Amino acid sequence: METGTNKSPQRIGVPREIFPGEKRVATVPEVVEKLIKLGFAVSVESGAGDAANCSDDSYRAAGAQIVDGAAALWAGSDIVFKVCVPTPAEVDMMREGGILIGFIWPAQNPELMQQLTAKKATVLAIDSLPRMLSRAQKMDALTSQAGVAGYRAVVEAANAFGRFFAGQITAAGKVQPAKVFIAGAGVAGLAAIGTAVGLGAIVRANDTRAEVADQVISMGGEFVAVDYEEEGSGGGGYAKVMSEGFQQAQRDMYAKQAREVDIIITTALIPGKPAPKLITAEMVKSMKPGSVIVDMAAERGGNCELTVPGEAVVRHGVTIVGYTDLASRLAKQSSTLYGTNLWRLAEELCKAKDGIANINMEDEAIRGLTVTKEGSITWPPPPPKQVAAPAAAKPAAPAQAKKGHGHGGGGEPMAGSKLAIVFGVAALMFWFVGANAPGAFLAHFTVFVLACFVGYMVVWNVTPALHTPLMSVTNAISSIIAIGALVQIAPPAGTTDWIRWLAVAGIVLTTINMFGGFAVTQRMLAMFRK
Ligand code: NAI
Repeated sequence: METGTNKSPQRIGVPREIFPGEKRVATVPEVVEKLIKLGFAVSVESGAGDAANCSDDSYRAAGAQIVDGAAALWAGSDIVFKVCVPTPAEVDMMREGGILIGFIWPAQNPELMQQLTAKKATVLAIDSLPRMLSRAQKMDALTSQAGVAGYRAVVEAANAFGRFFAGQITAAGKVQPAKVFIAGAGVAGLAAIGTAVGLGAIVRANDTRAEVADQVISMGGEFVAVDYEEEGSGGGGYAKVMSEGFQQAQRDMYAKQAREVDIIITTALIPGKPAPKLITAEMVKSMKPGSVIVDMAAERGGNCELTVPGEAVVRHGVTIVGYTDLASRLAKQSSTLYGTNLWRLAEELCKAKDGIANINMEDEAIRGLTVTKEGSITWPPPPPKQVAAPAAAKPAAPAQAKKGHGHGGGGEPMAGSKLAIVFGVAALMFWFVGANAPGAFLAHFTVFVLACFVGYMVVWNVTPALHTPLMSVTNAISSIIAIGALVQIAPPAGTTDWIRWLAVAGIVLTTINMFGGFAVTQRMLAMFRK
């Protein structure tokens, strides 16, 4: 169903963000070009990109129209792209029946939802994206922004910390590497681990969801588990509130880490709940003077008891950074990623590339995002079908889906009776071949069956993430057929010369295959090494 008021291409408008201190903008010139290729016209409010290093001229050069003033921009746009939750004054300026795409947080903003329905608006809340759908990952602005924020948290920590992150041996003596502890290894936590490891620190991390341990290790960190048996996954890739016994054991472990490490970055979050208090005033007191805490959960009350949201304060000689605008502090980067998320969404909305957004409520991703449709509230959406069912049976599955590390892994195991039938049929076929085939064929056939068996066993035990390098190495190994060409290079006397030249060509080609295959494998494996 088309939401546009007519069939002519719709205009996307990008206003200047008015939230105090916000530097991000909902699209950047590189993305404007892509939106125009989808058939849309684009307007940008004059000065909207200034704080993100995107000038009016650069938008103009990309094909956007620059509009003076917010009122004209909102009134002239069929679709508005925004970053921050719109203010009542902004919604007032919106065109009746228009489309709004941006952060809305419908659960926290019921009055805004009412105001938007009065405007007969269709609103796609980027924060309501069903994150478990792998197709939705390209539109996942929460992830892209948390990734930037995790990076910036480490940069803020490095700024406030008086030493190097990496260990060094200099003429003047040995410098110990900084020790960093990350509480909560979700999107922001993993980005922080990667950044701190990149700077050369020793990085440890803890999370209540044990399944993230592998992800911590793959980022170069060390996972520190709490000495208490309890499943911490609350489904959907999020945590649950833990028992009092677990919390006590966790506090003991965090107290030990606080005494040992130089920097703590906290990112612990349970959706819809205040941030868990993980770092007590006592723990802050026990840290070495000059240590740093970056509390990413500051906006939700903070993971540290002494955090002051929005500020960096010094308590007991420890700098506690409680900035709530970490992504905005890297405005160009976060705007580019956010703009790309919205362009990907626009692509889904406008598959015909005719500049008309089609809000298809049959599409699970679009359904999840749409919180009001032409003036009626459509939030919350019905629970996603394919996630609800396996979540009950296998608690670890949704987390993998959310973080995008699930690679399929071979599907469901075959039922016992089915397996018996398959084996029975295979045994009958072998008996038939053995009884009727000539002897020479049987020898080759045995080798073939054994090769299939060995190949299957080898591939089955390789982590799915390594299947691509495995394919390139098997491709290289297949160059063993070079032996055939080598045998033919000296053809029997009396045969034609072209056999020799075919053999030479065969050797050349298999050599390229062999060396190329191994070289590509090495390069791919290097990507997994730290
Ligand atoms: P996420 O949901 O991906 O990660 C949160 C992690 O905390 C999860 O892995 C969860 O298992 C873990 N966790 C929950 N309770 C815990 C506990 N008691 N102990 C240990 N781990 C626990 O969330 P994401 O996207 O990584 O965001 C993390 C935090 O950063 C959120 O509070 C978010 O609001 C905040 N954030 C702050 C920004 C800023 O500018 N300060 C910008 C972006 C995000």
